[in-house]
Amino acid sequence: MLEIRGLEAGYGDVPVLSGVTLAVGAGEIVALLGPNGAGKSTLLNCVAGLVRPPRRGRWAGTIRWDSQDLRALDAHLIVQRGVALVPEGRRLFGGMSVQENLELGAFAPRAWAGRRAALERVYTLFPVLAERRRTAVQALSGGQQQMVAVGRALMASPRLLMLDEPSLGLAPRLVAAILEALVAINRDGVAVFLVEQNVPSALSLAHRGYLLEGGRIVGEGSGAGLMANEHVRRAYLGPLAVRR
Ligand SMILES: Nc1ncnc2c1ncn2[C@@H]1O[C@H](COP(=O)(O)OP(=O)(O)OP(=O)(O)O)[C@@H](O)[C@H]1O
Ligand SMILES: [Mg+2]
Repeated sequence: MLEIRGLEAGYGDVPVLSGVTLAVGAGEIVALLGPNGAGKSTLLNCVAGLVRPPRRGRWAGTIRWDSQDLRALDAHLIVQRGVALVPEGRRLFGGMSVQENLELGAFAPRAWAGRRAALERVYTLFPVLAERRRTAVQALSGGQQQMVAVGRALMASPRLLMLDEPSLGLAPRLVAAILEALVAINRDGVAVFLVEQNVPSALSLAHRGYLLEGGRIVGEGSGAGLMANEHVRRAYLGPLAVRR
């Protein structure tokens, strides 16, 4: 499981996260909610090894995965331990085909031997990608590109899949397709740590969630509990959602 304790992080000398403590258990779907600039991407990128302290020992806190300290590992070694990120903005290679982009996800030694089975799993989850496997990614719709980004992370054979706003800018039908795929992936035994703007969707599938505001965890609870929470309804769902 993933266990973050007292995490402080930021960019250069500018702090973003302060005292963040949270956990994602094996087999869980956990949502991370928060307004723009709260530090959600910074948090996922710290776990993935993409945001690092400028000087060793400058920032406090620990990020443990199966009791291993992830802050001591380079990003590619974190993937090799079974932690994969679908980054904000997807970061695909537009001129390369769907299948080439997917295959790039299997370069971690843990994933290489199982890459054919993983590819079939991705094509079962997202049949439209199988039809378009030879198409350049830049010719796909935004929703299909997001499917490629999720598929590429799955190709690493993760035990923890982290996603940074996978539904951003997508039509409702495609949002549903992505979120349904996350439930199926979770049923395969993969823990899911999901940053989402689409709060009702995220909380409908998450077992638990955390609220991150101004770099601090200001609330946590079950999906249903957060959905009923007055602060969540006011801040994330708009005034019409607040019960009288
Ligand atoms: N590479 C960077 N260098 C310096 N500051 C950064 C960098 N990336 C983010 N920040 C700052 O860190 C803070 C948190 O940003 P972050 O992207 O983690 O927030 P977020 O919760 O993911 O927001 P959003 O919902 O807009 O994606 C913001 O004030 C942002 O301006
Ligand atoms: Mg972000």
